Amino acid sequence: MSSTTSIHGMWSSRLAFILAATGSAVGLGNIWRFPYTAGEYGGGAFVLVYLLCVAAIGLPIMMAEIMIGRRGRQSPINTMRALARDEGVSPLWQLLGWMGILAGFLILSFYSVIAGWTLGYVFRAGSGQFAGADAGAAEAMFNALVADPERLLAWHTIFMTMTTLVVARGVASGLERAVRWLMPALFVLLVVMVLYAAQAGDFAGGLEYLFYPDFAELGAHPGEAVLSAMGQAFFSLSLGMGAIMIYGSYLNSRASIGQNAVIIAAMDTLVALLAGMAIFPIVLANGLEPGSGPGLIFQTLPIAFGQMPGGLLFGTVFFVLLVFAAWTSAISLLEPMVAWLVENRGFSRPRAAALGGMVVWLLGIACLLSLNVWSEITVFGKGFLDLFDYVTANVLLPLGGVFIAIFAGWVMRRASTEDELGLRSDGFAYRVWRVLVRFVAPVGVVVVFLHAIGLF
Ligand code: PHE
Repeated sequence: MSSTTSIHGMWSSRLAFILAATGSAVGLGNIWRFPYTAGEYGGGAFVLVYLLCVAAIGLPIMMAEIMIGRRGRQSPINTMRALARDEGVSPLWQLLGWMGILAGFLILSFYSVIAGWTLGYVFRAGSGQFAGADAGAAEAMFNALVADPERLLAWHTIFMTMTTLVVARGVASGLERAVRWLMPALFVLLVVMVLYAAQAGDFAGGLEYLFYPDFAELGAHPGEAVLSAMGQAFFSLSLGMGAIMIYGSYLNSRASIGQNAVIIAAMDTLVALLAGMAIFPIVLANGLEPGSGPGLIFQTLPIAFGQMPGGLLFGTVFFVLLVFAAWTSAISLLEPMVAWLVENRGFSRPRAAALGGMVVWLLGIACLLSLNVWSEITVFGKGFLDLFDYVTANVLLPLGGVFIAIFAGWVMRRASTEDELGLRSDGFAYRVWRVLVRFVAPVGVVVVFLHAIGLF
């Protein structure tokens, strides 16, 4: 049944796929979202739950998503429709693809605004504005940016244009080359930051904050904290909306899915933990509030760059790399809907990318206005940006993940999954995956949902 190539292009090698998928996974989720969310829920216990979710829920679902994508070789909507037909089940499974597109729109709209902050910080770093900054100065600088809708709009527009241009050309071409040098460079710079934090910050305190699980710290609503840890795992691994699925559809049929998924998840987790180890020692040493919210790294890192030797250079390079990391993630958020427009509406790629990019850009304006002019408008007590962030990571992505797990574990015939994963059905790895994807992942997500809404 399944074809061996996609009409949208193919990765040139297994390494190219790993690089692209890691490029999707590693982004603002690791360096901006992980520290601030961990800080909101008190550190260690949150981090432990997050790690458990990555291993027991994220990894098996990542394998399932790559597997489904590679078997379908189309946009997530058409892939789900085709596989549902092959397995003789309802075409309603394609709704999974639609939900993913909705999640992609919502995520990218606020993601681009945060990427815009990062672009703005490249210039603040490069023009020496961090020099001698203390906590008060860093906070004032951040607040001034967030209060200025015109500047936010300019950066958001630039970032969405960058993203749309790459998707218009086709992701298989440039991405591979960009990620090949980006990942090692980002990694080296994070290690440098951790070394600086070890020497200038409260390193012991930071490590204890991050790795000593004190469950009392989860706060008055532990269900909420556990939900956020799980949501963070989905968000950071790019799972539940079809990004990894569509990247899987460009992977050749021989590559081992299990091995690739382990490598991608491990790199993603390592980057998040390094970011935490770089930031919390500085937060604690400067008396900052770990739970101060989405501005955390933007109020913390300038202090470090302003004081460390060579901080002008390091700071500039760091924010440039963060822009690239956000860019390679944003591309994967736009790709599923663009592939669908090309397949079903006969759009050319550039036209499809322009249309998708335009819708996201408009939604993004609502997000950036919610930080200032529209700060009074709230839904469930949250402005648009916070709302989109919360709903996508904590609801839409895990929900998508449950359906992916059920489809891979219960709907697809055992023989199809064995064949596609390339694992021996009596082997240990296949059996573990099957138990995780059939039971642990779906039940885990549902239990976390019910716990969060206070059902038990
Ligand atoms: N994983 C990306 C990050 O951590 C964000 C993302 C989420 C990308 C969902 C694609 C799909 O920045």
